[in-house]
Amino acid sequence: MSLPATYEKVCALDELPTVGAALADIGGEKVAMVRTKDGTVHAVQDTCTHGAVSLSEGEVEGCSLECWLHGSRFDLRTGKPLSPPATVPIRVYSVKIEGDDVYVSLTPSPIDENEES
Ligand code: FES
Repeated sequence: MSLPATYEKVCALDELPTVGAALADIGGEKVAMVRTKDGTVHAVQDTCTHGAVSLSEGEVEGCSLECWLHGSRFDLRTGKPLSPPATVPIRVYSVKIEGDDVYVSLTPSPIDENEES
């Protein structure tokens, strides 16, 4: 099975922290690559919507990523802020795993309400 052309290989799975975030540059777009405790990999906008700081330097907690500067947490599935002061969602990108490789599509896709993950 091949992926749609919009997906770009970002890294190998073992290049990501077991639980945590790492910064990736995908065609000039800064993306936080996040692996949660259950092993799910997420890709989200790296820059906090409250201030210009890198979210990949924040802590992963459950299915959220915390901004290290003021403590807003963002839902990794929807990008929505779960706690103040941030009020604007971050972008969420689609992730596919093929073998040991992680692919991300920067093409915005609506959240699939029916997706169980
Ligand atoms: S800069 Fe991220 S919450 Fe303020």
